[in-house]
Amino acid sequence: MTGQDPPAPVRSLAARYYTDPAIFEKERRGLLSRTWQFAGHESQAREPGDYFTCEIAGDSLFCIRGRDGVLRAFYNVCQHRGHRLVEGAGNTRAIVCPYHAWSYELTGAFRNGPNVEAVPGFDGSSIRLTAVRSESLHGFVFANLDDDAAPMDAWYPGVREELADYVPDIGALAPLEWIEVPEACNWKISVENHSECYHCVLRHPTFATGVIRPESYDIQPSGEGYVLRHTTECQDLERMSYPIDLSVPRAGEYRTFLLWPMFSFQIYPGNVLNTYHWRAHGVDACTVWRGWYTPGGAESAVIRQLAAQDLETTVAEDIRLVESVAQGLKSRGYRPGPLVLDPEGGLNSEHSIRTLQQWMREAVDD
Ligand code: FES
Ligand SMILES: [Fe+2]
Repeated sequence: MTGQDPPAPVRSLAARYYTDPAIFEKERRGLLSRTWQFAGHESQAREPGDYFTCEIAGDSLFCIRGRDGVLRAFYNVCQHRGHRLVEGAGNTRAIVCPYHAWSYELTGAFRNGPNVEAVPGFDGSSIRLTAVRSESLHGFVFANLDDDAAPMDAWYPGVREELADYVPDIGALAPLEWIEVPEACNWKISVENHSECYHCVLRHPTFATGVIRPESYDIQPSGEGYVLRHTTECQDLERMSYPIDLSVPRAGEYRTFLLWPMFSFQIYPGNVLNTYHWRAHGVDACTVWRGWYTPGGAESAVIRQLAAQDLETTVAEDIRLVESVAQGLKSRGYRPGPLVLDPEGGLNSEHSIRTLQQWMREAVDD
């Protein structure tokens, strides 16, 4: 006998990571509350007093623009007896709790409350809304419930610069539409599906023949930080399903930046920015939003048509895949199979899934 046995193949994650409510609860309290989560876009709160709410790791938050122009994030909870402060989005001169009308400044400082002066020693200056860390990445606002979290540039090195390179007008963009897509599956099934293209040619014919060139597709972890980069080129111009102008730098390229755990910037050929963001509602339910952007949120027939095409093809095709996998992972008959890891990388390799599943394990294993 010569040589050594080949190493055992790397197997996909055990089904319980996607089906066990205790693992989901651990993720909610740990991973999802210690990572950067998408809160909204700066354009939703341009003027002082503008606010919008969001939910992160099961907690309600809101972001509000101060008179000093700063956008701040707070837990959406009154410091009196815990009523929720604001709903949806709007504009207000002060934050007034609907329960007993305690009010707060736009900075979160306590302002006043009926009859509080009757309380001996009442010290309003010691009361303020609980702030949440937030950051803007080219107008995209992210929050992190962990006060000690490293900044986004440390989590996702280089992404800020690369986005500006591929989408030079990114700072001027605003959402044209966010399309909400409920999926009956664990959030990790959906994020994994988004993060490999091994299924693209078979399951996404419009994407693979009318948007990108599958032959050059590759996905690589960054080596540092928690980001997966997808790279390829546009499809032949005569096959493209929408017009692009190749005289614009980077217009012929396609990129995706998956920011672990559940946000993705995607740049379609033609420098078209679009996004995915997910919310996990429970062990077997999540929502993904497809976001499309134009300068100032202005109407664009081309982007509307591309968003509609994407919804009818890639998104619809993916829902069927992820919901089938969600059912399959509950089957008594499922044994996790080997990942297809091609040392050459490329379209038909699941390197990115190996990396994601490593991060998934690290998040919950003791
Ligand atoms: S709970 Fe908000 S004022 Fe009482
Ligand atoms: Fe897909």
